Amino acid sequence: MRTVETNSPEETWALAAGLADELEAGAVMALHGDLGAGKTCFIQGFAAALGIDEPITSPTYTLIGEYEGRLPLHHIDLYRLSGPEEALGIGLEEYFDASGITAIEWAERAEGILPDNLLHIEIRADQKTGTRTFRIYREGENA
Ligand SMILES: Nc1ncnc2c1ncn2[C@@H]1O[C@H](COP(=O)(O)OP(=O)(O)O)[C@@H](O)[C@H]1O
Ligand SMILES: [Mg+2]
Repeated sequence: MRTVETNSPEETWALAAGLADELEAGAVMALHGDLGAGKTCFIQGFAAALGIDEPITSPTYTLIGEYEGRLPLHHIDLYRLSGPEEALGIGLEEYFDASGITAIEWAERAEGILPDNLLHIEIRADQKTGTRTFRIYREGENA
């Protein structure tokens, strides 16, 4: 388990860029944290490090965004998902292949259908200072 604090969106981008250098095709990241914690910000930094210059947004009506970079990036936001059955309905499993990197916001909503090699990224925001505390650990590793 790694714990890292960031004090600005730029620092969060730098943390994400470091991870983008380490991860290989097939990696699946599960991002956890309240609204506004910085999940999308982290994925934006990750995307930039993959050479993606399209803006990463959280679209209102689609759950999945696909971007071409050094590796393909699949950005999935399950905020509006009702539960694991709907996750199966949208064919989420298709994205857990070896061809790209998948980043899932609100991944706990698809619990039970996520792959074994998940990399969890938990973000906690300190509302007073703006500091974000990231806890990064592998599925099965003691959190
Ligand atoms: N250290 C930090 N890391 C990430 N975002 C931060 C940080 N400090 C402030 N912010 C702000 O917090 C917000 C995070 O929003 P966002 O990434 O969309 O959250 P989420 O996707 O978790 O709902 C942004 O407005 C960002 O500028
Ligand atoms: Mg978001």
